[in-house]
Amino acid sequence: MPDLSAFPGDFVWGVATSAYQIEGSVDADGRLPSIWDTFCHTPGLVDGGDTGDVACDSYRRLPQDLALLGELGVGAYRFSVAWPRVVPGGAGPANQAGLDYYRRLVDGLLEAGIRPFPTLYHWDLPQALQDRGGWPARDTALRFADYAGIVAGALGDRVTDWGTLNEPLCSAWLGHLNGIMAPGVADPTQAIRASYHLLLGHGLAAQAVRAAAPVPPSVGLVVNPSPCEPASNRPEDVAAARHADGHANRWWLDPVYGRGFPADMRELYGVDLPEHPGDAETIAAPLDFLGVNYYCRAVIAADPGEALGFRQVPVDGATTTAMGWEVHPRGLEDILVRMTDDYGADTLYIMENGSAWPDEPGEDLIVDDPERTAFLDDHLGACAAAIRRGVPLRGYFAWSLMDNFEWAYGYRHRFGLAYVDYPTQRRVLKRSGRHYARLIADHRGAL
Ligand code: IFM
Repeated sequence: MPDLSAFPGDFVWGVATSAYQIEGSVDADGRLPSIWDTFCHTPGLVDGGDTGDVACDSYRRLPQDLALLGELGVGAYRFSVAWPRVVPGGAGPANQAGLDYYRRLVDGLLEAGIRPFPTLYHWDLPQALQDRGGWPARDTALRFADYAGIVAGALGDRVTDWGTLNEPLCSAWLGHLNGIMAPGVADPTQAIRASYHLLLGHGLAAQAVRAAAPVPPSVGLVVNPSPCEPASNRPEDVAAARHADGHANRWWLDPVYGRGFPADMRELYGVDLPEHPGDAETIAAPLDFLGVNYYCRAVIAADPGEALGFRQVPVDGATTTAMGWEVHPRGLEDILVRMTDDYGADTLYIMENGSAWPDEPGEDLIVDDPERTAFLDDHLGACAAAIRRGVPLRGYFAWSLMDNFEWAYGYRHRFGLAYVDYPTQRRVLKRSGRHYARLIADHRGAL
């Protein structure tokens, strides 16, 4: 159990999910396909041919999932709003039935005393917009702002904490550079254009939420920075780690914090940005909070054979999760301190942190998962250390409330604090989930 005395009395304890990973009901109540529906239904792209068609069936099991949140005793729930439910065509009129679903969710949370933290975009771009160019096209950023304004207008009387994008790095680099996520494009020019328009979309959506919400909102961006450390002291590895840091961190944070896109990375990418006058200011509009998703660090070696001249290398003797990611809690402390000292972030939330392990349910579907419990404790220990070093960390959201659709891995990897038995859709708290519930209760009790 981490030392809870470091966490302030109003610290927000939460769990997180995202729409496509849990909702299912992909053609219910007017929803139209997103790029992830298309990706999943393209043979060979997702492990086992899995899709989000049913996922955790959360769209139809709202009462069950609200009860699960109650069992954990969390004070907040981070979920994402599905653009293809609310504006199914990507542009144009809102779909009232889609909005009604999120209103029911938010009302259920508020009745249970749980603070809603919606994220407006967790990777499920309406396919209709992809067909018109997707994120590489400027119009998508403008349509994202329209959609954000619709959601904030409908829910902004009861929601105050808004995330614009989740992990734009993944949308741009994994979706358009490596092609391992939707829309499955592998083209550097498209990737750079997508990265630019995602950040522009963030800035425009922040303005739209602030303009539309009837109650003054708190609006932030959720990024996934990772420490990039050189594999050795050799100058070429040190230079490679600097580029990896530019690719993973500075490309996203520098423009948002008013420094513009980093010159060394512009040169490395060698692609012109689709800049318009005023965009830099829009992208750099002040954030009310920065959301950080943290899973692991990257140890980097120079590799002239790679397009960007570097590659991630395994760490000898490291403990790794089922995803093959190194368990490295110290990286979380380092990232939080960097966001504070280097970028000047004044309000931070961990919006995702968690781990996948090869869970084996026992009797009554109970999973004994000491590795996940240790991961949670050690990372909360890193949060406590960061707070003691002056980091303005206001909350922690564990990924994830329950096992769910892990993108191109399908259902193979389980991150949940609750085990999901997919054939019956039963959810059962794992021992790590019970541990988290106890920890939250202890913190509350200590106040
Ligand atoms: O499941 C994902 C989530 O959608 C985004 N952040 C990382 C998680 C684990 O891979």
